[in-house]
Amino acid sequence: MKCRRCKAPAVIDIRRHNAAFCRDCFLHHCKEQVKKAIDEFKMFGPDDNILVAVSGGKDSLALWHILSELGYRADGLYIGLGIGDYSDESGVRTRAFAQAHGYTLVEVSLPSDYGYDIPTAASRTNRAPCSSCGLSKRHLFNKAALDGGYDVLATGHNLDDEAAVLLGNVLHWEPGYLGRQYPVLPAADGFAKKVKPLVKMGEREMAAYCVLLDIDYQVEECPMAEGNRHLGYKEVLNSLEQRSPGAKAAFLSSFFSRGHDHFKDAAHVEKGELNSCDECGSPTTGTRCAFCALRNRVISETPVSIGRKD
Ligand code: AMP
Ligand code: FES
Ligand code: ZN
Repeated sequence: MKCRRCKAPAVIDIRRHNAAFCRDCFLHHCKEQVKKAIDEFKMFGPDDNILVAVSGGKDSLALWHILSELGYRADGLYIGLGIGDYSDESGVRTRAFAQAHGYTLVEVSLPSDYGYDIPTAASRTNRAPCSSCGLSKRHLFNKAALDGGYDVLATGHNLDDEAAVLLGNVLHWEPGYLGRQYPVLPAADGFAKKVKPLVKMGEREMAAYCVLLDIDYQVEECPMAEGNRHLGYKEVLNSLEQRSPGAKAAFLSSFFSRGHDHFKDAAHVEKGELNSCDECGSPTTGTRCAFCALRNRVISETPVSIGRKD
């Protein structure tokens, strides 16, 4: 196997691109793919300040590294979720990575700053832990980006993540979710702009990026995500990809270019009229935002029912 770019011995092959790369050309390829996504979806420009949500996993650490290497001003945001050893280790890895590269890391702790953790929230809601986790993270990502004056918030969702979410949204024909599933969500009153620059990158490529650069990432999956239906969707898509390489990327990119527009209005309709949360000021359709409602109930030990993830 030879590198497509320089003909040196290859270290990785990417079947959907029908290409193999040596170490340096693969790292170059990753940066090119991220650059392509940033340009294609008009995510941000060279003067923008970016806040990268970093979990300590391969995707977000690689994203932070790639954006910095591309010359963007990118700070990190780590949220301590209080999920036992899992959170302790992800915090240690994220801080070590930031320090080793001289990057600026903003930290928020759900237990210390807001008085609850995800296991407690999960035990007091009647949904999967990922629901309260997703809701809390989305709120805190948005708040940190707005409070810090950043132009955009970037997350490490990759091609496999987004294709799995798309499959779920299609299987349930969720027009509102389909309308909001896009690599860029524009800023609006009370909402920071959100982007997913890894939409063209597979999970395996991001792991390879970290291994080749000796980036020490958290390999273990979240212990609370067991049974998460997106893991099943990923398996289905992987077996499809095995039979016809490129099917997964085509599914996602065709949705962005040909399907998404049909659902844009549904996303607006579902949002409805927005007010300010009477506790934290965040936009909400009621009087109190979902985050404050969840927090109040968890702290006051009352069972609470909340919406689904994503
Ligand atoms: P997940 O929801 O775990 O699939 O993660 C998706 C993306 O959300 C990651 O790539 C990160 O960008 C971000 N993220 C997840 N967990 C955290 C965390 N604890 N702190 C900051 N960002 C996170
Ligand atoms: Fe959110 Fe596991 S990281 S439930
Ligand atoms: Zn609120």
